[in-house]
Amino acid sequence: MQITDSSSLHLPKENLEARDFLPLLGTDYIELYVGNAKQAAHYYMSAWGFQPLAYAGLETGLKDRTSYVVQQDKIRLVLTSPLKPGGEINRHIEAHGDGVKVIALWVDNADKSYRETTARGADIYFAPKTLKDDHGKVVLSGIHTYGETVHVFVERKDYRGIFMPGYKAWKPFYAPPKTGLRYVDHIVGNVGWHEMDKWCQFYAEVMGFAQLVSFDDKDISTEYTALMSKVMSNGNGRIKFPINEPADGRKKSQIEEYIEFYNGAGVQHMAMATDNIIETVTNLRNRGVEFLTVPSSYYENVLDRVGEIDEDLAPLSKLGILIDRDDEGYLLQIFTKPILDRPTMFIEIIQRKGAKSFGKGNFKALFEAIEREQEARGTL
Ligand SMILES: [Fe+2]
Repeated sequence: MQITDSSSLHLPKENLEARDFLPLLGTDYIELYVGNAKQAAHYYMSAWGFQPLAYAGLETGLKDRTSYVVQQDKIRLVLTSPLKPGGEINRHIEAHGDGVKVIALWVDNADKSYRETTARGADIYFAPKTLKDDHGKVVLSGIHTYGETVHVFVERKDYRGIFMPGYKAWKPFYAPPKTGLRYVDHIVGNVGWHEMDKWCQFYAEVMGFAQLVSFDDKDISTEYTALMSKVMSNGNGRIKFPINEPADGRKKSQIEEYIEFYNGAGVQHMAMATDNIIETVTNLRNRGVEFLTVPSSYYENVLDRVGEIDEDLAPLSKLGILIDRDDEGYLLQIFTKPILDRPTMFIEIIQRKGAKSFGKGNFKALFEAIEREQEARGTL
């Protein structure tokens, strides 16, 4: 694929068009509803280097669910499973398989965040509530977004405990080393046919985000499949939510495959940032994480496209790490295969060296790699 319009990839440091009625300090946590939280926690620790942080379950007085919280630098995952038949979590897992339920956003004022967003039309998930223990208080409120995904606003300025009231510290003897993952760079949602603009409008009007960049089916298509994407960002640029929808192609796109297996809209991938992608990916591969690979021909002329980079090409090529450049610098990125049995969610590892964009120059090579996987699954 050619970069036809690199100027469209120029992104301001701060997104000045975004309105700041909803100041967001960052991603607080990402909660997944999973079939077996104990084993999921083990996976994220063993394969990904997350560290055990907190636990809630029968031992803390919960009767119907268990949650494990794992953390790596600023990335916090909450893994939740039901303990009994019936109920909302079981229904969610039956419909979607394991998947992201909550994208929690760290705010100064959860009550105000709730009022500002619901006044602008957000559907209520739950009204503000205060949780207290000996370490202080946390205020939470929640709104719905695409599919069955929700945003929970987390106000923790008066809390000094390990995670939040209701959880105890979790200190298993087993805690494998970290892999260098530092923070959530962006979280991507897949939505249905012709729903991208609706959800971008939601982030603009209800949450005060602005659009950073858009890609149409001419940017993101191969011989067989296509999709469209717009990237929405909040005012300080810490929260970036690309939204994808399928586009017409000769065969079934990865977005359609996702929607079919997830049974609706939902989180397609989380991108986690590292300061040293070669070390991080080497480590992850040694721990069994499977990445998409591109043909070695990708590396034959990649430097003609992206210019000089600090890294040696050999380890990038060996690991299958992709490279792209925009007006402000370059980036290195790689994508896992789906991390679940259903071909739904995957994880991106990204190292930014100035670039603020999302790897447009890699889309074609990447989607051809995904098509090879779809072919093997019989879902192309
Ligand atoms: Fe991404």
